[in-house]
Amino acid sequence: MYSAVTIGLQNPKTATNVASILRAAGCFGVSSVFYTGQRFRHAKEFHADTKSFHRTIPTVGVDDLSAAIPKGATIVGVELVEGATPLPVFEHPHNAYYMFGPEDGSLDAALVDLCDHVVYIPTANSLNLAATVNVLLYDRMAKRDYDDSVELIRQSRDTNNRLTLR
Ligand SMILES: C[S@@+](CC[C@H](N)C(=O)[O-])C[C@H]1O[C@@H](n2cnc3c(N)ncnc32)[C@H](O)[C@@H]1O
Repeated sequence: MYSAVTIGLQNPKTATNVASILRAAGCFGVSSVFYTGQRFRHAKEFHADTKSFHRTIPTVGVDDLSAAIPKGATIVGVELVEGATPLPVFEHPHNAYYMFGPEDGSLDAALVDLCDHVVYIPTANSLNLAATVNVLLYDRMAKRDYDDSVELIRQSRDTNNRLTLR
């Protein structure tokens, strides 16, 4: 089944977080990352994206996340919003545009209004932004047909890692 994942970041604050998000985006097969604001600019070269996924995943600055909604995508806000759906029971759309708020704020109410769904992760406190993206993408993968082949392990691990269960 056709699957597409696009991420929208509202004015992300820290280079570390954005670089970690780009690494997660590469690992989980995100098509592109859109962001607003000026605080991101230097993050593209930041060390946390050690696999340099920013060179292969389109990472595009836009004035408004609503201008970047992919054709046919279902818009999913990821935020601590009263009335939102807990992520563990959420069924992810095939073609999804996930929008996240900044580390020092929340997703704008106008963006929340645009969403087809809003989900939250039932944590005891708010998560770090990059951690939220990782949990969201993991949850999506776990609920779909994922590649559980040994080839994927071999391709994903360090070249000097030859570990196998005996
Ligand atoms: C550190 S949080 C910012 C504070 C958060 N808006 C709040 O009200 O506590 C950064 C972003 O990560 C996402 N986030 C963090 N924890 C979350 C959770 N438990 N559920 C859903 N989104 C979360 C949201 O997109 C949020 O805007």
